[in-house]
Amino acid sequence: MADEKTQVTAPGAPIIEIKDLHKSFGSHEVLSGITLSVPAGSTLVILGGSGSGKTVLMKHMIGLLKPDSGRVIVDGEDIVPMSAEQLEKMRRKFGMVFQAAALFDSMTVYENVSFPLREHRKDLSEEQMHDLVREKLSIVGLKNVESKFPSDLSGGMRKRVGLARAIVLDPKIVLYDEPTTGLDPITTDYVDEMILDAKKQLGVTSVVISHDIASAFKVADNIAFLYQGVIVDQGHPSKLRHSEHPGVKLFLQTWFGKN
Ligand SMILES: Nc1ncnc2c1ncn2[C@@H]1O[C@H](COP(=O)(O)OP(=O)(O)OP(=O)(O)O)[C@@H](O)[C@H]1O
Ligand SMILES: [Mg+2]
Repeated sequence: MADEKTQVTAPGAPIIEIKDLHKSFGSHEVLSGITLSVPAGSTLVILGGSGSGKTVLMKHMIGLLKPDSGRVIVDGEDIVPMSAEQLEKMRRKFGMVFQAAALFDSMTVYENVSFPLREHRKDLSEEQMHDLVREKLSIVGLKNVESKFPSDLSGGMRKRVGLARAIVLDPKIVLYDEPTTGLDPITTDYVDEMILDAKKQLGVTSVVISHDIASAFKVADNIAFLYQGVIVDQGHPSKLRHSEHPGVKLFLQTWFGKN
């Protein structure tokens, strides 16, 4: 039985595969046949307009939503039929940065960032946890904030605390839902660098949801463009840049048109 931290997928082989995924809420079909593959150790950026289904798609990658049909294969295992208990184990491979920072307001920064360690690394001493928390906070450019509460922090700082918490278990896959929305340009750069560093130094696979085109083109190995329920174009950023799809063209013009 493989340890849940062991990654079975070789670098470059698909670590997340989505096959013909469909999802409706009532009569509203949000995803109408998504097929996507994320090579281990690469960064995929999912671009798309507001309400196009990016967050819904990401939630399927960790089994927070079940598809109406289609398959979601993570590190060689189909997660769709998994029980709650199996999903919980599978999710330890992931770090997640939710769209809202989703910190626990009644807990300090230290308690927030150490939370996954308390759940999953009961072997660690308090001192070891402290060291890990400090290390992760410094990776996201924060220090001397451990005893503060989320309400004491700016939006950008809260976001960075959320990032620190997502990487505290050294996951092999990190999902970022709008990691740079609402951040100033310098902090945005910081987050982009963090995603690039995690790949280079730790071989982390990242899936980044964004409508920040500049960030997307900076961090992505591949970009997938979600439009009206399907991926209408995907590939290397240089390919997407010259996409012939009218929806992609219009979306990119808002940025490249001005630059
Ligand atoms: N649990 C749910 N129940 C019903 N409808 C939902 C649910 N979750 C999402 N939706 C609908 O699915 C559609 C896609 O939502 P989603 O949050 O994935 O968009 P998004 O691309 O992430 O948008 P944004 O860029 O604004 O975050 C929306 O119309 C939303 O209202
Ligand atoms: Mg969203």
